[in-house]
Amino acid sequence: MKETLQAIEAKALEQIKQGDTLDKLNEVKVAYLGKKGELTAVLKGMKDVSPEDRPKVGQMVNDTRAVIEEALDKAIKALEAELMEAKLKEEVIDVTLPAKKPEIGHRHPNTIALEEVERIFVGMGYEVVEGPEIEKDYYNFEALNIPADHPAKDEQDTFYINSDILLRTQTSSVQVHVMENQKPPIRMIAPGRVFRADEVDATHSPSFHQIEGLVIDKNVTFADLKGTLAEFAKELFGEETKVKFRPHHFPFTEPSAEMDVTCFKCGGSGCRFCKGSGWIEILGCGMVHPRVLTMCGIDPKEYTGFAFGVGLERIALLKYEIDDMRLLYENDIRFLKQF
Ligand code: DAH
Repeated sequence: MKETLQAIEAKALEQIKQGDTLDKLNEVKVAYLGKKGELTAVLKGMKDVSPEDRPKVGQMVNDTRAVIEEALDKAIKALEAELMEAKLKEEVIDVTLPAKKPEIGHRHPNTIALEEVERIFVGMGYEVVEGPEIEKDYYNFEALNIPADHPAKDEQDTFYINSDILLRTQTSSVQVHVMENQKPPIRMIAPGRVFRADEVDATHSPSFHQIEGLVIDKNVTFADLKGTLAEFAKELFGEETKVKFRPHHFPFTEPSAEMDVTCFKCGGSGCRFCKGSGWIEILGCGMVHPRVLTMCGIDPKEYTGFAFGVGLERIALLKYEIDDMRLLYENDIRFLKQF
């Protein structure tokens, strides 16, 4: 009996040693310790052992069982540890590798220019307001003293929705809304999209942006207009920038002017950028026409004011020395990435 058990034990231990997978070790367990296993078979044979020898044999069987169990246990644990080690190695993450950079969007040159203009005027106490892009003829033309036969009202220039409703051609329409709804003193800028029936080219687009400005108070003069817009130009293009006002005509201002700034590229000596003149036109302005004030319910004997209108794209193009407006609308990432 003893030899039988020793043989079983040796065989089992050898198989455990060979067991290089958990499945194989499990098979060994079943083969020796299971219900139909070899040791169980030995226990079943106890009935043939004499009663006085039974405890001894029983003890031997148990010892063998314990030895096999322990060896199996050890082998399984060792194998599990090995497998875990391999898995960890495989899944290891090198935290010192450089991370993938997420692609970050860029602010559009129009947005950057607008934020700059807003910053300047908010700093001077102006409020930023918005008005509707779809507008009544009254707000876009009539209340701004633009006569019915004015060329701007031609269908070739204006997108009409019907005879009374149109896409605003200028942010000047917001002036009217503000004056109707607010008592002076008024100090506001109104940025927004405007529409004109233009063909697309390097300097035109059927949709672009303007920033309107309006100041209404007692005793506002042309000197206030000049001082304010000169300061604006300096903040936008640099301290050394000079401004020049040329007489002009707008139906809603009287007197009216266009403002030029000294070319920020050549400083005024003349270059390709300013077409040799040393000056660049940047905005239209003037003293609000008394008729406009009256139509908006403001007494021109008590209040005066000035207004101005700037093209946003124009500022962005100048600021970044871009010579084709279409680049601002195509949204080519390679172009936008530069800002
Ligand atoms: N609305 C004018 C345009 O689209 C720009 C303008 C000129 C606005 C003079 C004004 C102004 O407020 O006073 O060309």
